[in-house]
Amino acid sequence: MKIVTGIAEVRALVRQARQEGKTVGLVPTMGFLHEGHLTLMRTARAAHGLVVASIFVNPLQFGPREDYAVYPRDLDRDASLAASAGVDVVFAPPVEEMYPQGPANVLTAVEVRDITERLCGAQRPGHFRGVATVVAKLFNIVTPDVAYFGEKDAQQVVVIKRMTAELSMDVAIATVPIVREADGLALSSRNVFLNPAERQAALVLSRSIRLARERLEAGERNAAAIRKVIKELIGSEPLAASDYISVCDPATLRELEAIEGPALVALAVRIGKTRLIDNMTWEG
Ligand code: PAF
Repeated sequence: MKIVTGIAEVRALVRQARQEGKTVGLVPTMGFLHEGHLTLMRTARAAHGLVVASIFVNPLQFGPREDYAVYPRDLDRDASLAASAGVDVVFAPPVEEMYPQGPANVLTAVEVRDITERLCGAQRPGHFRGVATVVAKLFNIVTPDVAYFGEKDAQQVVVIKRMTAELSMDVAIATVPIVREADGLALSSRNVFLNPAERQAALVLSRSIRLARERLEAGERNAAAIRKVIKELIGSEPLAASDYISVCDPATLRELEAIEGPALVALAVRIGKTRLIDNMTWEG
């Protein structure tokens, strides 16, 4: 496995792979890899001649009071994990390579409207502009045939699919289901911030998702009733405070009243200082 930091270097490796008739899979990440990322990498490995994983903590997608400075980073550990998952090339550019004028001086951004203002976007203004911009850049740099994203970031997937469709980007978006710990906690690089009591309290997210599924399976079709039972469950956990509880249309992310077809149940909850998300899609 090669580790490259320059845009020109990764482009040369992709060019060479294409000349050899290989297709290219890209797994964009911010590093501090966990089993969720490794599942994306193994899925890409099974489908492509060249697998590129990017590791870049993107300053554009963090707000001024968010955890950019302390976001966990460990390139050596990530490189050996990526190699074990069959990645051919880790692209780990420094900030200067991606934003030579500095992130604060970037003038060009990709703005996906409306769906970025809901759910996480309502709490994190500018977050999805940062995500869409860096993902568009990574697509331009790596030119993957397929890019792989985790379903834990459900809104991110909706935004990226919309961006690629509306900008006619020649890349297919593949998604992989949420990977969970044995007790249900969805894997996240931010889980390392949880102390033992918070780690226990964080189970309220997966319990909420399970409760929503049970209610839906039992025939509940009133979205407000689902939000209410989740709110009560989260309210019963002293270390948890919900940012949002959404039962929405999976394409438009507009809140539903009656659940008559597919629905996305999504939540963001603060456990101490750590903000965690979880979701499930009800196929209807
Ligand atoms: O999901 C993430 O880790 C990031 O948002 C992504 C897609 C790598 C863009 O920085």
